[in-house]
Amino acid sequence: MFEGEVALVTGGSSGIGRATAVAFAAEGAKVVVASRRSEESGETVRMVTDAGGEAFFVQADVSISADVQRMVAQTVERFGKLNYAFNNAGVGGNMVPTAEYPEDVFDKVVSINLKGVFLSMKYELPYIVATKGAIVNMSSVAGLVGGRVGVAYYASKHGVVGMTKAAALEYADKGVRINAVAPAVIKTPLTEGAGFLNKDTQLGAMMLARHPVGRLGEPEEVAQAVIWLCSKRASFTTGHTLPIDGGVLIP
Ligand SMILES: NC(=O)c1ccc[n+]([C@@H]2O[C@H](COP(=O)([O-])OP(=O)(O)OC[C@H]3O[C@@H](n4cnc5c(N)ncnc54)[C@H](O)[C@@H]3O)[C@@H](O)[C@H]2O)c1
Repeated sequence: MFEGEVALVTGGSSGIGRATAVAFAAEGAKVVVASRRSEESGETVRMVTDAGGEAFFVQADVSISADVQRMVAQTVERFGKLNYAFNNAGVGGNMVPTAEYPEDVFDKVVSINLKGVFLSMKYELPYIVATKGAIVNMSSVAGLVGGRVGVAYYASKHGVVGMTKAAALEYADKGVRINAVAPAVIKTPLTEGAGFLNKDTQLGAMMLARHPVGRLGEPEEVAQAVIWLCSKRASFTTGHTLPIDGGVLIP
């Protein structure tokens, strides 16, 4: 589907980003894996190359402008162009009520989850306009509905929904589509670390019970939605945030 094209995935060192890097390569794209962690990202690159694809790693912190500029510059230097970007890098932050939420953690979460998506789009867009490509930003069901304990996460993911709409409007007549995805709980190191995956605990059982399909999601199920949103099959879809949520948002 993407033969001869180039896809950039931020936060590609694990979880949903890794699965999406592999999925882009399986569809024929050359892939740039951007992340802070070199060892884990190297594993993603190996997974792509072992499957016959082409990929390289760029070390970048998406909250730092110079890193993001270098990430995009190295992509274009190496592969000559940029067709698709999945701005996925993110962190969870603390799980405490608002009055107890540490200010420095709030700043960190917003600077990675929200400003990181802004900086990524800012520096990717000139190249994606040139190829009439597509962008997918990472939001969350936490970007579409409220929830307790995690004010910075909810704020940042709601912000991504708004930025996606704003940028989609700005670039719609330039042939660039910009959408977001909003997963519910997906089995990744992030949700493992938050204690969401162990159904024998109260928190894990509660998380599972929220999903009408009776299970949590797999990273590959988000990856396939990103692939669809980037593909010509989604050629009339822009500015939307697509829930991938096992029915969580139905009620
Ligand atoms: N797993 C879920 O249930 C779930 C649900 C909704 C949304 N999300 C979002 O999906 C995205 C990926 O999360 P995941 O679950 O795959 O977790 P993960 O921890 O496996 O992946 C997060 C990735 O982001 C990278 N990253 C973190 N901070 C970064 C920074 N400053 N600069 C560059 N890279 C950075 C990490 O190195 C890693 O590659 C996040 O934005 C997360 O909020 C996850």
